[in-house]
Amino acid sequence: MEILENCSLKTFTSFGISATARYLASFEDTESLEEILYAVQQSSLKEQSTLVLGGGSNILFTQNWNGWVLKNEIAGITLQHEDPEYIYVKAGAGENWHQFTQYCIEQGWAGLENLSLIPGNVGASPMQNIGAYGVELRDVFWDLEAYHKQDKQVQTFTSTDCAFGYRESVFKNRYRDQFIILSVTFRLRKQPIFHIQYGAIREELEKMGVQDLSIRQVAQAVMNIRRSKLPDPAQIGNAGSFFKNPVVPREKFQVLKQHFPEIVGHAVDENSVKLAAGWLIESCGWKGYRKGDAGCHEKQALVLVNYGNASGKEIYDLSQEILESVLFKFGVQLEREVNII
Ligand code: FAD
Ligand code: EPU
Repeated sequence: MEILENCSLKTFTSFGISATARYLASFEDTESLEEILYAVQQSSLKEQSTLVLGGGSNILFTQNWNGWVLKNEIAGITLQHEDPEYIYVKAGAGENWHQFTQYCIEQGWAGLENLSLIPGNVGASPMQNIGAYGVELRDVFWDLEAYHKQDKQVQTFTSTDCAFGYRESVFKNRYRDQFIILSVTFRLRKQPIFHIQYGAIREELEKMGVQDLSIRQVAQAVMNIRRSKLPDPAQIGNAGSFFKNPVVPREKFQVLKQHFPEIVGHAVDENSVKLAAGWLIESCGWKGYRKGDAGCHEKQALVLVNYGNASGKEIYDLSQEILESVLFKFGVQLEREVNII
């Protein structure tokens, strides 16, 4: 087991923020995880100061981490079993999400195509029930295994146990910081059901000249759209959408619509509407804004960016200014999606 001390985290997160971890160690399986947790116990910094890190694409360090960062590197993709309709495939939490989706697509296993090109690792995907282009993790999720830090037991969670919601799960709320996700099992379809009604997918498929639809082509269309509007963290530091799209009561939406006829919102159910936070932020004049190296992306106002040397605090302060201006103008409270440390 290698333990790094005062380790820079700059290259470990997609924001590319300068911050350090007092200790950093990687684990490849439950045994090596237990070894590290034992070392944590022996150190002066106890286990409540452990932070699990996957691909670092949904996290913002606003300060140094005066504790242990545990880097999840559990690998492996295994076909568990199949029935006439489905394939059940288990992936180690340290597998790269996008590579995993592409592997499944190559095998002809359907369900993950709309979730192509989301950065990060498999292990973090249930944390916020990742979603894109009309599909969420919960649509393909079967179960997961997670290690309880206090009880030192591995538990299995079904979809119901995970209490998935829009960018939510039990791991972000009730069980926050209690479990380390070790693996996730997905239930993928042998025969695809295409989801191409969302956003510009259909338009992009037409542009691509697609005649016979396949999961590979849907994945390609999604990747094209994503590349056209989202900044590549390898070029400009970011963590995707910084805020969630706020859900408001239908009556509130109707009032807003009277004052702001262009407002963008989609009904979630009979009683509530999900507003496009990007529209709210753009309408407050933030799109393309830059202060030092912290900014609001010029093509997607929901994405805050680090042009190079912004500190986590500068990004956070900008997010606070944005949040307050949206509240002031629209009376709508934005909630951060990114995990703030
Ligand atoms: P990390 O950032 O490493 O961790 C995120 C949180 O999960 C942290 O609190 C961490 O402690 C915890 N965690 C990580 N792994 C584990 C584990 N094994 N067990 C317990 N806790 C753990 N998200 C979407 O939903 N949809 C999108 O379309 C989308 N697009 C994005 C586009 C860009 C350009 C970027 C940069 C991000 C985007 N995101 C999107 C956000 C991000 O990709 C996802 O949230 C992703 O699941 C984060 O994975 P990660 O491994 O990088 O997590
Ligand atoms: N919009 C603007 N201005 C902007 C950005 C968006 O007016 O600067 C409006 C437009 O009307 C646009 C609408 O908002 O049509 C929706 O924009 P987009 O399709 O880009 O999606 P989003 O709602 O901004 C959400 C997710 C993304 C996910 C996409 C595609 C959240 C918080 N974000 O973004 O997820 O990739 O939909 O499904 O739900 C992430 O979570 O990190 C993330 C990138």
